[in-house]
Amino acid sequence: MKSTMPKSVVIRGTGSYLPEKVVSNDDIAKFLDTSDEWIYARTGIKRRHIAAEGEAASDMALKASLRAIESAGLTPADMDLVIVTTVTPDMLFPSTACILQAKLGIRNNIPCFDLEAACSGFVYGVEVAARMMQSGLYRNALVVSSEKISAMVDWNDRSTCVLFGDGAGAVVLSASDEPNIGILGSVLGADGSDNAMLRLPAGGSLMPPTRQTVEKGLHFLQMDGKEVFKHAVQIMKDKALEVLDLCEVSASEVSLMIPHQANVRIVESVAKRLHIPMEKVFLNMEDCANTSSASIPIALDSAIRSNRISKGSYVLFVAFGAGLTWGATLVKM
Ligand code: COA
Repeated sequence: MKSTMPKSVVIRGTGSYLPEKVVSNDDIAKFLDTSDEWIYARTGIKRRHIAAEGEAASDMALKASLRAIESAGLTPADMDLVIVTTVTPDMLFPSTACILQAKLGIRNNIPCFDLEAACSGFVYGVEVAARMMQSGLYRNALVVSSEKISAMVDWNDRSTCVLFGDGAGAVVLSASDEPNIGILGSVLGADGSDNAMLRLPAGGSLMPPTRQTVEKGLHFLQMDGKEVFKHAVQIMKDKALEVLDLCEVSASEVSLMIPHQANVRIVESVAKRLHIPMEKVFLNMEDCANTSSASIPIALDSAIRSNRISKGSYVLFVAFGAGLTWGATLVKM
């Protein structure tokens, strides 16, 4: 084998994109029986970005990717691998990753694929890319999470639509010859027995689109919010501890935890159980709401661009989502 195995895989660049249109809680209260007070008190969300009509996951992914590639000091042609994580692909096939590859103008026949692990998608994507890169065959990988959840929620259902937003976040991972840096470890998992807790039932092979599926609203996201909440706190705490244990790093050494931005009360409960003070937790759900798999890379990009992360510090990602799926990653920046 001609390839050289790297000593580590590092986050070399980050980028994000949020659509221009902002919809506040007060805006939603104009057409739904809800209020800013209710939404903010239960979730920590004040507003969300909503993609324009015709603006697809690949369009948002393109903008986030170009920013990440530029911040890495590379060009699209330097990418050896593209993974897109999304529950809102442009279409069922081809993959959004292939559509993105074309938009980026990458013509060198690299592997491009979508990975679907709902809100845990970014953590899954980074782990898959890092493991592939450890073969030595891929020096630079683009992992981009892009979600247009606004297209999948019922805007007449106050119990779900207020929680979500659109956006994209990307990282460029690069092979490095420096040891003990970058992606130190990840734990991933799933429990498919609870798959009805959070799902979008129709539009796939089980229930192809028909007049009936549309009339019954089966093309919209469905969720049992209370159950999701309960599982999220327990699992995110357990997985954060597991990855810290795996990497032999204590919670007190973590400089910044970047959790999936679903709900501030979930995050506060997790942080409390981990004894991580909220000053060391990055939050942006107030402005972005839950952007599914894009939430961690959007937050990571903001944290880096606002100097919340210094070189050599430990950053902890922890996510939870439909499936159920979960994952936690420890990174030494
Ligand atoms: N505005 C006003 N009232 C609302 C509302 C809204 N946007 N959404 C729901 N309600 C009402 C409900 O209809 C219910 O009314 P009822 O008692 O008359 O039936 C009441 O508020 C309480 O609802 P409940 O479901 O008990 O609220 P909650 O405290 O569990 O909060 C969530 C609801 C959705 C905010 C909360 O369960 C949650 O955040 N869950 C996790 C969801 C999540 O993060 N999912 C993504 C994971 S990746």
